[in-house]
Amino acid sequence: MGTLVLVVEDDADIATVLRDRLQAMGHEVKTVGDGKTALDALQRVTPGLLFLDIHLPDPKLNGIEVLKWVRKEWPDLPAIVMTAFGSIPLAVEAMKEGATDFITKPFDPDYLNIVIGKSLERSALKREVTALRSELESRFDMLVAASPKMSAVIESAKKVAQSDSTVLLLGESGTGKDLLARAIHNWSARRGRLFMPVNCVALSEELLESELFGHEKGAFTGASTQKRGKLEVADGGTVFLDEIGDMKPGLQAKLLRFLQNREFDRVGGTRSIRVDVRVIAATNRDLLQAVKAGAFREDLFFRLNVVTLTLPPLRERTEEIPDLVEFFLKKYCREAKKPLMQISPQAMKMLTAYSWPGNIRELQNAIERAVVLKTGDTLKPEDFSLQPMDLSSNRAEQMGRPFHRAVEHHKREIIRRALARASGNQTKAAECLGLQRTYLARLIKQLDIK
Ligand SMILES: Nc1ncnc2c1ncn2[C@@H]1O[C@H](COP(=O)(O)OP(=O)(O)OP(=O)(O)O)[C@@H](O)[C@H]1O
Ligand SMILES: [Mg+2]
Repeated sequence: MGTLVLVVEDDADIATVLRDRLQAMGHEVKTVGDGKTALDALQRVTPGLLFLDIHLPDPKLNGIEVLKWVRKEWPDLPAIVMTAFGSIPLAVEAMKEGATDFITKPFDPDYLNIVIGKSLERSALKREVTALRSELESRFDMLVAASPKMSAVIESAKKVAQSDSTVLLLGESGTGKDLLARAIHNWSARRGRLFMPVNCVALSEELLESELFGHEKGAFTGASTQKRGKLEVADGGTVFLDEIGDMKPGLQAKLLRFLQNREFDRVGGTRSIRVDVRVIAATNRDLLQAVKAGAFREDLFFRLNVVTLTLPPLRERTEEIPDLVEFFLKKYCREAKKPLMQISPQAMKMLTAYSWPGNIRELQNAIERAVVLKTGDTLKPEDFSLQPMDLSSNRAEQMGRPFHRAVEHHKREIIRRALARASGNQTKAAECLGLQRTYLARLIKQLDIK
């Protein structure tokens, strides 16, 4: 598709040559002969490209002056200046004033093509960057949630983002701890530096130690080269210690030392390394309980527990469900390249009444699945396959059970069924349940599911 090009040139012959060339390239052209008319025209039309002669009839409003105006009023409009052959100093001055490029007259048609192509490409890239940036920001805007509980969390998060304090994020699986950690980094002065997630449960203790602190060559079998740890790589940025509640006691001590004085040794190293990182930690475990049980160091807990933000489970903020549903519908319809679907009032009622044990992740998965499978334009209750809590089965047996055992019994049943449907594949079962695989693995162990 062609672009509207505004040509500002007082020499009628040159203006005609330029217009013919630009039209031949498929662009629409408007020509004017002086600076004043050019600025007037810009008030009325929005060209995608400007060709500007430096020598214009009014000496008070020559090309350079027009360019200064354009830069002030239309900073994104690419402007190519035209100078007579041999007047390079003027071209240099124009470039200093923010011209995108320059050509000398008489112009070579091939060169003209290249200059135009480059300028248009650059402004397209600029637009793309702006669009991506605003999309990224809107991702975090989504966190500005509709419930009073969430708004309070977001407000505190924005405040703490301004400081370098350690932040502890608590909340059930799928409540948005990961997303909030990223948002805090993006709201902080460290946003231009790295955000480095470290999952404390995915690796063995030894590997996690070297992942965090790095190692020297020969520190252990297999350490054939020196490696910098994530704390070092993230210097100046934020480190996100995810699932901190699962960190082994030995490492907890080393992490404590780091949090106390921001210093650590690489594995096998003898020299202390000092870095400047903000630490955000998250867990879906009850850390206080873990401290009482002796599984988590109390001193580390106090170090981490400087500012604690707790994300409420979705069932405690059901007023957000319509907004979230809307958000995920838009997202997944766009991704599936389907027209935006509606949701029937009955379906919305059902989604609002459901208890969402997997929280926002489960809701997100439910919408994605429904959108992908749906052929019509309105999602109905039958388009969702929520896991109903089958409370009618074994009722007699449950009646005699204390509450917690009954809950455990149900958890076990739900997981067993999901595993059976997924033929024992934990990743698939976790997906169906809207849980993270690591969390499901932990539940399976906890509940002793064979
Ligand atoms: N307020 C929100 N708005 C939009 N999407 C959200 C919101 N909160 C969470 N999500 C989405 O829900 C999913 C789960 O969130 P996230 O991964 O942050 O949860 P989590 O608390 O880290 O869970 P886990 O403890 O299992 O790691 C993500 O895809 C995230 O983008
Ligand atoms: Mg997470």
